[in-house]
Amino acid sequence: MSADLDTRAIAILRRNDRGGYTVPTHGLYPFQWNWDSAFVALGFAEFDRDRAWTEIETLVSGQWDDGMIPHIIFHRDDPGYFPGPGVWATGRTPPTSGITQPPVLATVLRRLWEQEGSDPAHPRLRRLYDACLASHRWFHRFRDPMGNGLVMATHNWETGRDNSSEWDDALARVDTSGVGTYQRRDTGHVDAAMRPTAAEYDRYVAILQFGRDCGWDHRRIADAGPFRVVDVGMSMELLRANRDLLVLATALGDAAAVAELTARIALSTAGIDWLWNDEVGAYCSRDATTHVSSGLVTSASFLAFYAGVGSPAQRQRLLAALDRMTRSAVYLLPSLEAGSRAYDHQRYWRGPVWLVVSYMVAEGLAEAGETGWAERIRADSARLIATSGFYESFSPETAAGSGGPDFSWTAAMWLAWVRKGAGA
Ligand code: DGY
Repeated sequence: MSADLDTRAIAILRRNDRGGYTVPTHGLYPFQWNWDSAFVALGFAEFDRDRAWTEIETLVSGQWDDGMIPHIIFHRDDPGYFPGPGVWATGRTPPTSGITQPPVLATVLRRLWEQEGSDPAHPRLRRLYDACLASHRWFHRFRDPMGNGLVMATHNWETGRDNSSEWDDALARVDTSGVGTYQRRDTGHVDAAMRPTAAEYDRYVAILQFGRDCGWDHRRIADAGPFRVVDVGMSMELLRANRDLLVLATALGDAAAVAELTARIALSTAGIDWLWNDEVGAYCSRDATTHVSSGLVTSASFLAFYAGVGSPAQRQRLLAALDRMTRSAVYLLPSLEAGSRAYDHQRYWRGPVWLVVSYMVAEGLAEAGETGWAERIRADSARLIATSGFYESFSPETAAGSGGPDFSWTAAMWLAWVRKGAGA
């Protein structure tokens, strides 16, 4: 069975390859997405090393002069997606969106480089290292409103966890009176019950329009934008990525970056407690304007292990929360705990299991010595794929696939992680 799934996963990546970049899935997402591409590179690395590097080189070809790596690069237009390049109107070549996505690229870069022997003179390392450093500096400059090393998202799409209930309160304050009419395309590709609601979409569009109306001035958006939330996911991911970038900076002898990254890591490691919610016993996203904690345990809360943070007592409480999740979920790791407000086992980031988050959480748990939990998450992921194939996400209750089929990052996670340890 494993060999058959290997063949299918490779075929999906080949089929979704548009020449130098991979679409997340046919139809629903017809462009290059930032964090999708980073994870997809790990999948290609298992059977085509050159193609793995090309994937992330193409991604950084869309980097802005200020350092931001955009969340979508529209290498070619496609009328089957909304909001397309004309709506974003960023004036970039190639056209891109005006927001970013989770900073996982440096972590992937380090992995590719180590897989090939950790040679500081690796011919494809330097340009990508420089791109990651510029991107991390962009986060530090524009997305650290409290100066505590955490990451503020200015659009829920930046978090990658688009409709997580963590954003509900901040989104409720977004004025949608000027949004006008538009035609969604996503619900023409997949069941609307698996996608954000119409009211939520209006808010997503209103936030986009604010950015566009201020010419994608990232300073103004950060200071005065309608959505300002410190995301537990991006904060943990950037901290982890800074640790990985530090390894590369050291290997390359970039002393200034070593000092800068070391200071940044110390700042974030101390700052992360601002997200700790002692009532629920987990790190939770927190509004940058009202300072109210979401109070929600989501899959991103468990990225603490991946980021290397938490006292022994905090880690025990996180493991207790993970254990609680197993009482309602047949398959780990649901994106939201059952029983939480707005939990829905098939609606996007309000319950379904997403293998890229499962992967990061399992990596972190294994590194922390929690190998039993890491293996449980991996084995559950294998059962999800064996039952339903390579879907975008999966019900934690029934294993049914939700969202798009033949999904690139799910195929990549099979190849790079899930099949391993299964005797593959
Ligand atoms: C979408 O279109 O739903 C994407 O997730 C936005 O990045």
